[in-house]
Amino acid sequence: MTLALENISIDFGGIKALSHVSFQIPDGRITGLIGPNGAGKTTLFNIITRFYQQNQGSIRFYEKNINSLKTHQLTSIGICRTFQNVQLFNSLSVYDNIRICCPTNRRTYFNEIFSIRSFTPPQKQLIEDAIDFLDLGKYKYEIAGELPLGIQKRVEIARSLVLKPKLLLLDEPAAGLNSKETQELTHKITEINQRFRTAILLVEHDMKMVMGVCEKIVVLNFGQVIAEGTSEEIRNDDRVIKAYLGSDDHA
Ligand SMILES: Nc1ncnc2c1ncn2[C@@H]1O[C@H](COP(=O)(O)OP(=O)(O)OP(=O)(O)O)[C@@H](O)[C@H]1O
Ligand SMILES: [Mg+2]
Repeated sequence: MTLALENISIDFGGIKALSHVSFQIPDGRITGLIGPNGAGKTTLFNIITRFYQQNQGSIRFYEKNINSLKTHQLTSIGICRTFQNVQLFNSLSVYDNIRICCPTNRRTYFNEIFSIRSFTPPQKQLIEDAIDFLDLGKYKYEIAGELPLGIQKRVEIARSLVLKPKLLLLDEPAAGLNSKETQELTHKITEINQRFRTAILLVEHDMKMVMGVCEKIVVLNFGQVIAEGTSEEIRNDDRVIKAYLGSDDHA
């Protein structure tokens, strides 16, 4: 099991954002996390990645409790995320945005004094591979903040790839993308999962995407898990239909 969440609860003032949330993310699969706006999906990402400290409950990553870890320690154990609102260094190039995330172990006295990050040939190759994999070659030296959202989202994913994640958390990667971009991104996500056996937790409102790629789907509503199962089971679950697919729009 890649990640096990047990009894996670958090509240903000009077708002119970998550109540007793428990589920598991199996190895090497894509798990979907869906639910209406405000259901608590991003809050759960923030807890897993230690931006928020839960009031109750535990998180185990490959059986090891990670409750006491800090956000900056997560990439080194293999947990990476993207953000609902893309968070790039807008004034840097695509290449530098990716390079900056690549861990470097080439530490010399000179480099340390002048804060220079230098990369070994394999590390440079890793950066190039991530750029190629996300088809970012022609944007490599473009300023990230000036690129269309669809490209920026691919840069965010490329940044995660250089960290060789065991678990990748994607928060609404298709939001704001057109259908062609969504299709391409869906293909990339599946490829990441298959090629690197990376477990993925996918938060997405695009039901076609979720139903198409997720082997398991967890549904949150008002901070509680109301259903868990295959896309077929979720599609036919009365509580899900009522809570989430009830409106004509979503149906
Ligand atoms: N830092 C915070 N302070 C106060 N309330 C918060 C905070 N973070 C989240 N919340 C509240 O927790 C609830 C869950 O929010 P969250 O952003 O996790 O929902 P979501 O499922 O990601 O929704 P969406 O699909 O719109 O992104 C909401 O009521 C939100 O207002
Ligand atoms: Mg959210």
